[in-house]
Amino acid sequence: MAVQISPSILSADFARLADEAARVGDVADWLHVDVMDNHFVPNLTLGLPVVESLLKATPLPLDCHLMIEDPDRWAVQYAEAGAGSVTIHAEAAKAPVRTLRQIRRAGARAGFALNPATPVEPYADLFGEIDMLLVMTVEPGFGGQPFLDVVLPKVRRARELIDRHGGEVWLQVDGGVSAATIERCAEAGADVFVAGSAVYGAEDAAKAVQELRDLAES
Ligand code: DX5
Ligand code: ZN
Repeated sequence: MAVQISPSILSADFARLADEAARVGDVADWLHVDVMDNHFVPNLTLGLPVVESLLKATPLPLDCHLMIEDPDRWAVQYAEAGAGSVTIHAEAAKAPVRTLRQIRRAGARAGFALNPATPVEPYADLFGEIDMLLVMTVEPGFGGQPFLDVVLPKVRRARELIDRHGGEVWLQVDGGVSAATIERCAEAGADVFVAGSAVYGAEDAAKAVQELRDLAES
């Protein structure tokens, strides 16, 4: 699968989201939207109303990463609103199969996320229900944290499991992905890369996306 880059607006200026989306509009594949509820993670960001407005403000498909306590209640609404992809966390979902099916039925890609300490093996049987597996490479909650190398062996095992059982499942990494770490992620088998501070912290965000893509493809 071709490399895909999903800049995270968590590191963008929240008062100017349409302009911030436009900074990467020509070069990014997705726009990554971190939904946090101050319960599943110790931070609060945005929710459905902002996503609905953002959908009208950018042609980029939205990659909604739900770091919330009750994804079974909310995920389908992001899909129905028009998100291109909706990712729920293994640690939060109480009925993941039902919720993943609802996301797909509403026309979005279904993503399933694992925190750094959550093993991938118990979820291999769910790969038929998902379009993307997200392996977190930081503890979720904040942008700008250092990349956790300790998670790389899991990325590698996830790649092996996907190749064995997963068909078309994309493998995403999120957290601390930068020019210094993206090659390690790609080498371990990731193909979709979320980057917040590495893109929005750069003077030229579009150039930063291009550089990340070149490194991941090399
Ligand atoms: C963290 C979020 C990430 C965050 C990544 O919980 O899920 O998407 O924006 O930020 P960086 O790339 O700065 O680590
Ligand atoms: Zn994220």
